[in-house]
Amino acid sequence: MRLQCIDFFAFILGFVLSFANGSGTRIDRESVVRRFNPSRNANSPTTPIQVGNGNFAFGADITGLQSILPWNTLSTWSWHNTSFPTTPGQTKPEDFTGLDWWTHGRLVPYSQPNPAENDISQWLIRNPHRVNLGRIGLLYNGEGIEENQLSQTQQHLDMWTGTLHSNFTLDGQIVSVQTNVDPHSDTVAVLIESRLLEDGEVTVFFDFPYMTGQNKFETFVGDWNSTSNHTTTIQRRQHSAEIRHDLDSTTYFATINWVEKGSMSRLSASSHQYTLAPAGSKTFTFTTTFSANPIYLIASVSTINTSSKQWWNEYWTHGAFIDLTSSCNPPPASTLQRLIVLSQYLLAVNSASDSPPQESGLTNNGWYGKFHLEMYLWHGAHWAVWNRWGLLHRSLNTLYKQFLPSSQLRAAEQGYKGARWGKMSDPSGRSAPGEINSLLIWQQPHPLHFAELEYQAALEAKPGVSNPHQVLEDWDQVLTATADFMTSYAFHNSSTGVFDLGPPMYPVSENTQPNNTINPTFELAYWRFGLEVASKWKSRQRKPTPSTWATVLSQLAPLPVQNGTYVIYEGVQDPWNTPTLTEDHPGLVGIFGFLPPSTDSPFNTTTLNATLDKINSTWNFTASYGWDFPFLAMNAARMGNPQQAVKWLLDPNFAFDDIGMPIGGSRVPTPYFPASAGLLWAVGMMAGGWASEPKSKLEDRWPNGWEVRVEDFGKGL
Ligand SMILES: *[C@@H]1O[C@H](CO)[C@@H](O)[C@H](O)[C@H]1NC(C)=O
Ligand SMILES: *[C@@H]1O[C@H](CO)[C@@H](O)[C@H](O)[C@H]1NC(C)=O
Ligand SMILES: *[C@@H]1O[C@H](CO)[C@@H](O)[C@H](O)[C@H]1NC(C)=O
Ligand SMILES: *[C@@H]1O[C@H](CO)[C@@H](O)[C@H](O)[C@H]1NC(C)=O
Ligand SMILES: *[C@@H]1O[C@H](CO)[C@@H](O)[C@H](O)[C@H]1NC(C)=O
Ligand SMILES: *[C@@H]1O[C@H](CO)[C@@H](O)[C@H](O)[C@H]1NC(C)=O
Ligand SMILES: *[C@@H]1O[C@H](CO)[C@@H](O)[C@H](O)[C@H]1NC(C)=O
Ligand SMILES: *[C@@H]1O[C@H](CO)[C@@H](O)[C@H](O)[C@H]1NC(C)=O
Ligand SMILES: *[C@@H]1O[C@H](CO)[C@@H](O)[C@H](O)[C@H]1NC(C)=O
Ligand SMILES: *[C@@H]1O[C@H](CO)[C@@H](O)[C@H](O)[C@H]1NC(C)=O
Ligand SMILES: *[C@@H]1O[C@H](CO)[C@@H](O)[C@H](O)[C@H]1NC(C)=O
Ligand SMILES: *[C@@H]1O[C@H](CO)[C@@H](O)[C@H](O)[C@H]1NC(C)=O
Repeated sequence: MRLQCIDFFAFILGFVLSFANGSGTRIDRESVVRRFNPSRNANSPTTPIQVGNGNFAFGADITGLQSILPWNTLSTWSWHNTSFPTTPGQTKPEDFTGLDWWTHGRLVPYSQPNPAENDISQWLIRNPHRVNLGRIGLLYNGEGIEENQLSQTQQHLDMWTGTLHSNFTLDGQIVSVQTNVDPHSDTVAVLIESRLLEDGEVTVFFDFPYMTGQNKFETFVGDWNSTSNHTTTIQRRQHSAEIRHDLDSTTYFATINWVEKGSMSRLSASSHQYTLAPAGSKTFTFTTTFSANPIYLIASVSTINTSSKQWWNEYWTHGAFIDLTSSCNPPPASTLQRLIVLSQYLLAVNSASDSPPQESGLTNNGWYGKFHLEMYLWHGAHWAVWNRWGLLHRSLNTLYKQFLPSSQLRAAEQGYKGARWGKMSDPSGRSAPGEINSLLIWQQPHPLHFAELEYQAALEAKPGVSNPHQVLEDWDQVLTATADFMTSYAFHNSSTGVFDLGPPMYPVSENTQPNNTINPTFELAYWRFGLEVASKWKSRQRKPTPSTWATVLSQLAPLPVQNGTYVIYEGVQDPWNTPTLTEDHPGLVGIFGFLPPSTDSPFNTTTLNATLDKINSTWNFTASYGWDFPFLAMNAARMGNPQQAVKWLLDPNFAFDDIGMPIGGSRVPTPYFPASAGLLWAVGMMAGGWASEPKSKLEDRWPNGWEVRVEDFGKGL
């Protein structure tokens, strides 16, 4: 039996090769996707089931709406500021000056909370924050519904069409709800069927919260009590109503359209709750569109039902796909396939946005809803490897260009050339004050990583990518500014004759003393990678490479080695026996896997192997979380150990819930989407291989005896 499967594996590989030649059977993607459609029969207290379009998502409880739990309706575009502090001298953002730290003999200003400017420092951290646009739910006889009033609850998400089906029995009567989101506007489309609609026992409510920025993490976003701090007004039309919501200087609109008879009323002048009461029909269909400006043309529920189906079909049938469902495969293959498919759905809903996604996507507010530039590569790279450039371009086409001027200013204020990319950001590009925020550096080479992925895709003429010449031109300005900063940040140490990174700085694991942290291994390797890409970029364009880049590249400090292993940073004391240094992100594994080997100065394999052995024997993997496991898996895959790679991806500490939501654990909130995105990135590398290792074969990247069918993958670097 076993042998047969191995033989069959070889046969399948033949198949895979024949795809490349345009023949062979395609994977039945629909059946693989639908096999893993999630269903529930009770609320989860920690995650909603969502429908959404990447820039807008609606989180539903077991009723298909937000009747019982106030799950969130979040967008890429709606943000809110509370009023500025009134403390004298701290009444506007310009009053914030941060702190100066000694940096190689000079005082450099960093955007860090300043105790003397506490109020404006805190304001800048908490503002703007992402707005929960509103709650939509059902009432029964005018009252809120409790879960224990429902029986026979059944909920089923069809990922193939983006449709959520929910039904339950309330007082002996069946209520069934279908929920979709329009792929082309921020509209929730709902179809309700029940005899309880006929005489008005079941009605729909809408409610709008205030935003305070009080909480860094908010599972249920917004303050529903401070009703006098914000206003809503309603304008009624035929079968339609427009609710305008004003919170300080933020204004947006919720436009509700319905088909059958119904009437809209406000619960009371002091609340922001409105009810829509259907009358005389067993079926009720309505849409709610959220928008920054008034909107008049709204698609109908059935149009949205169709476009949702089309959009999701297109999503699943284009771009890469992997099929691990062969009955010959051992059970872990199916476990992994389930995580892959659920992650694909969740990332299209939460992370295919016009600005980089937040760690918790559009599910709830982490870090006030702000996104992190060092995490953008984790959120974004899988789209590249899975050949879904259209979704990645939503943010990638504009992000670095938009943030360039403020990043050039940041660098200039600190006495550096080029552009220093920020960290925890809102769409304006302002980076929130923070000691770690201002001293982390591994986000700096990310544009070079993205650019190189795009260039490699362009060479292979992947769909949605311009020709190589155009890609070179598109990125040139951003890459030049990035590499200029990286070279000017590297400090020429006249006693050692090399260029040092830091101090002060934080490495990827954020767990060292910034004033002592110099030449961290991962960041040195990443600087080297980045400057190599930047130099190649210039020669590909037949432009001269700035001599400073070449100088820094050739004289960058070597990766620090102590006792025969690479260490977290140069001069660290006894790192393998120091508990705080043997947990958190294992940055050292990133030098091979997350990064390709350097062409000019490859690492020493003996030293790398000794380092990996040390990590294996000392690391507290129980404290690892999120992308640590894909990070480890990428390394294992490149080391030629796919069994271990798969083991990392299925590690019990790398946990996902019943619908595939990545569980944050004790360190970060749930959901923590870098886990899902990292999973797809690592799987993508194992499926598609690496541009720097053209001879690698699919069967060498997966465990022995697994049947793996892949279609349309790009390559990692
Ligand atoms: C919040 O305030 C900042 C600083 O004044 C401003 O740049 C930004 O546009 C404001 N954002 C919103 C959503 O009001
Ligand atoms: C690092 O040095 C600066 C002075 O340059 C000092 O203000 C700061 O407190 C030090 N940071 C830590 C974490 O010790
Ligand atoms: C209720 O939902 C289940 C699961 O989606 C489905 O099989 C069933 O047909 C639905 N029943 C009704 C009455 O809609
Ligand atoms: C708001 O009101 C709800 C119920 O009325 C209560 O449970 C909650 O604690 C209140 N929240 C705040 C922040 O006061
Ligand atoms: C609401 O407004 C009142 C009066 O201005 C203020 O005291 C209170 O702090 C505000 N509440 C919130 C949550 O901002
Ligand atoms: C959506 O289309 C499906 C058929 O594909 C149909 O069963 C369902 O009732 C439609 N829903 C709405 C809300 O139109
Ligand atoms: C030069 O490098 C050495 C060894 O890493 C270090 O101890 C020293 O502080 C560096 N000099 C400066 C000025 O940073
Ligand atoms: C080398 O290993 C020994 C034994 O674990 C340890 O005492 C020593 O501190 C290590 N040296 C360095 C530079 O890490
Ligand atoms: C790699 O490191 C080992 C052990 O330190 C050493 O013996 C060997 O010479 C190094 N190889 C190269 C190419 O530098
Ligand atoms: C390092 O480990 C890999 C994988 O275990 C092995 O193939 C390779 O031979 C080792 N290299 C050295 C120099 O020990
Ligand atoms: C880690 O060490 C254990 C023995 O302690 C060994 O069984 C396992 O294969 C090692 N894993 C890797 C990835 O080297
Ligand atoms: C490993 O991490 C876990 C989770 O943070 C913690 O409970 C445990 O004490 C740690 N173990 C060691 C040996 O430090």
